[in-house]
Amino acid sequence: MITILVTGANGQLGNEIKSIYKKDIIDFKTPIKFIFTDIDTLDISNKISLKKIFQDQTIDYIINCAAYTNVDLAETEKDKAFNINATCVEHIVNSIRETNTKLIHISTDYVFDGNSYIPYKENMSTNPQSVYGSSKLKGEEYALSYKNSICIRTSWLYSSFGKNFAKTIYKLCKEKENLNVVFDQIGTPTYAYDLAQTILTIIKQSISENLFVPGIYHYSNEGVCSWFDFAKAIASKTNTTCIINPIESKDFPTPAKRPFYSVLNKEKIKSIYKINIPHWYDSLNAFFKAIQAQL
Ligand SMILES: NC(=O)c1ccc[n+]([C@@H]2O[C@H](COP(=O)([O-])OP(=O)(O)OC[C@H]3O[C@@H](n4cnc5c(N)ncnc54)[C@H](OP(=O)(O)O)[C@@H]3O)[C@@H](O)[C@H]2O)c1
Repeated sequence: MITILVTGANGQLGNEIKSIYKKDIIDFKTPIKFIFTDIDTLDISNKISLKKIFQDQTIDYIINCAAYTNVDLAETEKDKAFNINATCVEHIVNSIRETNTKLIHISTDYVFDGNSYIPYKENMSTNPQSVYGSSKLKGEEYALSYKNSICIRTSWLYSSFGKNFAKTIYKLCKEKENLNVVFDQIGTPTYAYDLAQTILTIIKQSISENLFVPGIYHYSNEGVCSWFDFAKAIASKTNTTCIINPIESKDFPTPAKRPFYSVLNKEKIKSIYKINIPHWYDSLNAFFKAIQAQL
């Protein structure tokens, strides 16, 4: 029996992992036990609870989906953001250091400053521009201080679960006549379902082929767009007359600075784990199907 612990399982990514498990989408070819936890059942800031869960049973994999993800609020809640995104990762690593548990930790494109004009590779210099980005970078350092650790940086995550840009635009464009969306921030949306499937595929290959290569990986959907293009694509799939207007970031000030360019180069994860990544536009269709199924 292989045991997989998921933290932060009530969030977007955690819920997608849960849904893949419930629908039995991945055949691991071996019995798997999932333990889904969130702050109410396993608060990762509680060192004692963390130590206990690893002492009480053998956990083969931990997928750390728990995070502080409010990018703007983090600017004023710096301690809280650093505690959850960095210090808690150190607690996790300290709890598993003496075990054989493999860690899959999730990070962000916001560790980059966005000044590049070519897709970011894993080894390119980081230079976060926000508290959130800095806290996640520190979390990466703790995660990677552990020998059996994979850290996946992703970008513009959205899902039919939780709050995100795609759901907000979907709702707003049915209510409003006009929406202003920035067109000068370029990146790639990531459907959390696709990332969840990739994480579980990595675990499957680790179990069946002993393929688990520690280090940093980049993962998003394929393709590139601006938030404006993404919003237009979302609106085109709804019955709306709402007009989406392109605006510049300077006309939409936010507490946290965002990278202007944060496209991730995914060659490493594709070549090592032989995964096919869907284009963001195709995944948006899958997202709409999932939303409709939930109605
Ligand atoms: N969202 C994005 O656009 C984006 C982009 C790039 C990377 N990422 C990264 O991707 C990962 C998954 O993101 P997501 O969007 O799925 O996050 P999410 O929806 O915000 O989920 C995070 C979950 O962690 C929980 N949590 C917070 N503090 C905790 C604690 N002390 N102990 C246990 N659980 C705790 C949260 O509970 P509460 O809701 O009660 O706080 C929430 O259920 C994160 O590492 C994030 O940084 C996200």
